[in-house]
Amino acid sequence: MSKPLLIANWKNHPESLARGTNILQGFSKKQSLFKKTSLFIAPPLPYFETVSKKIKNYATLAAQDIFFTSEGTHTGVVTPEILKSFGVKLSIIGHSERRALGETNEVVAQKVKTSLLSNITPVLCVGETTRDTEGDHFGFLQEQLKLSLEGIRRKDDAERLIIAYEPVWAIGKTAKDAMQPSDLSQMIIFIKKVLTEIFDRESADKIPIIYGGSVEPENAKQLFDTDIRGFLVGHASLDPQSFATIAEAIV
Ligand code: PGA
Repeated sequence: MSKPLLIANWKNHPESLARGTNILQGFSKKQSLFKKTSLFIAPPLPYFETVSKKIKNYATLAAQDIFFTSEGTHTGVVTPEILKSFGVKLSIIGHSERRALGETNEVVAQKVKTSLLSNITPVLCVGETTRDTEGDHFGFLQEQLKLSLEGIRRKDDAERLIIAYEPVWAIGKTAKDAMQPSDLSQMIIFIKKVLTEIFDRESADKIPIIYGGSVEPENAKQLFDTDIRGFLVGHASLDPQSFATIAEAIV
């Protein structure tokens, strides 16, 4: 079995590179622990050079987003080629905070394609905004997955994908507001079923599904006791002690 996946999504934090360097000093003390995971760190773009140098013994640089094409001239854009020149191997795509800014499933699908073409592993984020007893979230998720993977049908593309299930209502809260392990187990089965409809059973089985949404030291172990293959961690990845405790829970 491959190592558990751990992705630190720093979003637009911390507020300065100096503070980021402090966090990395804390991470570096836990190198041997982090090496037991497949660790990716996605910092703000201006921190890339420093972060990539400091993490090279135990982690890989990741992007929080990717531009939807690698061609042409575009002001204010960072292309996949530039990301790769810093050692980026993986990109978060379609995070709910980007979808909230207007990113559609169509754009997300284009980004997944560009990422695959650029040899950057796409981590496609999906997740319902709200839940109700009617179970509408199943239909929502099914449609979001299908549209975000529109046009991606090749077996070898499918097998390079990672799905991050991130229910929007659980993001940026605390462990007690996060998803419960029994609900997570149900959602993993559902996502696998949809992936089987999109691709086939064999490819769907190979796509790792990770969870994000208030993963903290308090709930990491229980959530990992499901069929989940790793975590996408926001706020808790800015605190070396919390992040190390999460890593300990999954190795
Ligand atoms: P959170 O963020 O861990 O702070 O909930 C996760 C994410 O948005 O990727």
